[in-house]
Amino acid sequence: MVKGKKWKQPPGTAQPRKCFRLASERAICEVLCEYGQLGAGLLAQVVFGGATGIGRAIVRRLARRPGQLIVIDKNEAELAKLPAWIEGPARLACVTADVLDTDALTALPERILADGAALDVLAFNAGIYPTVTVEESKPKDWDLVSGLNARACYFAIRAFLPSLRRSKRGTIVLTSSITGNRTGATGLAIYGASKAAMNGMMRSMALEFAKDGITINAVEPGVVATEPVLKGLGPQNEAKMKLLIPLGRLADPDDIAASVEFLSSENARYITGQSIILDGGMTLPEWPENIDFNV
Ligand SMILES: NC(=O)c1ccc[n+]([C@@H]2O[C@H](COP(=O)([O-])OP(=O)(O)OC[C@H]3O[C@@H](n4cnc5c(N)ncnc54)[C@H](O)[C@@H]3O)[C@@H](O)[C@H]2O)c1
Repeated sequence: MVKGKKWKQPPGTAQPRKCFRLASERAICEVLCEYGQLGAGLLAQVVFGGATGIGRAIVRRLARRPGQLIVIDKNEAELAKLPAWIEGPARLACVTADVLDTDALTALPERILADGAALDVLAFNAGIYPTVTVEESKPKDWDLVSGLNARACYFAIRAFLPSLRRSKRGTIVLTSSITGNRTGATGLAIYGASKAAMNGMMRSMALEFAKDGITINAVEPGVVATEPVLKGLGPQNEAKMKLLIPLGRLADPDDIAASVEFLSSENARYITGQSIILDGGMTLPEWPENIDFNV
């Protein structure tokens, strides 16, 4: 147990807009230690890859719950902007870390959790989706993409498993993708493999962790209007893409975050080993004419 000044905040009260940085990790430990002992409606939640895009929307949603919310991301500049994004009672703590470094990843619980602290929610959203054809790809492309999307996801869960167990209501939500699980795309073979790996590990983990009351599920977004995607598509392809989506628009990051919020909530307590497709109907049509209804 980390000694130090205790911080107490009645659930639902206003928060000072402060985000702990590396220098204040001790303060993070103190707070988590307290929550680890207190439980009772206060949650300890960790989001990997929460600085931008879908992850930031997840952080915004999870911040509505009272307790400690820790965001781990390698983008320190964007992490620093997070306090301005959130509203709600959660106490926000930001930790800069590159989760491709497995040693650093494995050391995270010790760095940010006090001894005996429980973790209630782990959302793994960190991911990259560079395109490279099979012919042009190199071993380092495979290592980078699968190293982050699959390997880091696996070792993040492994590292935090003891603290999730202590929660007795631990829940894990992965940001997977329709790519690799439902669809394919030129240049996304490695990415698709990494996202299929996430779904694959999720199912076996669901069985392994069930005895500890831990659930694990995934969301599979279609095309989400985040900065890398909009930049990659450009305005012309974005317009074409909309024509392929029955609901007639790209997903907003919050569309995905809403399902992550649900899957990590009490309302989803009997769901484990499942994934939800969040694609606006994109993977549904049996033939191209079916897509006409949104034009
Ligand atoms: N945008 C889409 O259309 C879409 C569709 C399906 C799935 N996804 C998945 O959603 C997730 C988020 O994508 P996004 O579009 O919001 O992209 P994004 O780039 O905005 O978000 C990714 C986050 O992960 C962080 N990150 C990247 N590498 C990291 C590392 N090595 N260590 C720690 N943090 C790291 C980034 O800093 C960023 O904050 C990814 O897993 C992606 O595969 C996105």
